[in-house]
Amino acid sequence: MPHTSHKKLIVGNWKMNPATSAEAKKLARKFKRAAVTLEHTEVVICPPLPFITICSSRKKVSHFHMGAQVASTQEESGPHTGEVGAHMLRDIGVEYVIVGHSEQRKRGDTDLLVAARLKAVLGQGMTPILCVGEATRDESGAYLEALKNQIKASCGDLLKSSAKSIIVAYEPIWAIGAAEAMKAEDVYETSLFIKKVFADLYGADMGLKVTVLYGGSVTFRNAPDIIAIGKVDGLLVGRESVNVPGFVELLKAVDLVG
Ligand code: PGA
Repeated sequence: MPHTSHKKLIVGNWKMNPATSAEAKKLARKFKRAAVTLEHTEVVICPPLPFITICSSRKKVSHFHMGAQVASTQEESGPHTGEVGAHMLRDIGVEYVIVGHSEQRKRGDTDLLVAARLKAVLGQGMTPILCVGEATRDESGAYLEALKNQIKASCGDLLKSSAKSIIVAYEPIWAIGAAEAMKAEDVYETSLFIKKVFADLYGADMGLKVTVLYGGSVTFRNAPDIIAIGKVDGLLVGRESVNVPGFVELLKAVDLVG
């Protein structure tokens, strides 16, 4: 399901947290309760794979969706030890899949692998959340060129009809797990740049339409400004997404931005 509405999209990337299924279930229950009260915001939680089923509900919960943190490049079931197919994720109700997170790229995911994962996720009608971002910034702006190349290489040979369904999460690596997020004004500038790259790749309309999230040290305190001043379509949240009071507060605060 592509994210085409004007609503804000808040994605919780739980990473390798929490430690037990009981805790995961509790987190999900609290976030579902918060999600149903939202008016302008959709919530996606991405628990570790073993907890996805316990976190999802049989009945549809308004404004609440399931995501996964990874999907295999393998599109068919078969002898692929340790792999989890996109079709399996779809089968258990997953709608969104994070692809190309910097923590996975650091462990060996190349742009080529990222492009293959994107294809596998799209092939199952789910929405990939493609993570991109520079490791460092330099005065001369060389990081912009690197960002552009990363986006191009990650999209590989995707056709426009498929690229339409991608969500881009801009996550400058230096702002992930950091003390502070990127300045909202800079988020705005870079999100415009990303839209321009999409316009160059797939046509002007795609530049206007592509959904861009920001990620990197988002908290309930800085989230409203990043949305309002940074003018992004939503947020990819790490640490704050497994902190019940913080994430619930974040959802309410972002919803008020409208
Ligand atoms: P953080 O992580 O919010 O803890 O910085 C964000 C991410 O890696 O997606």
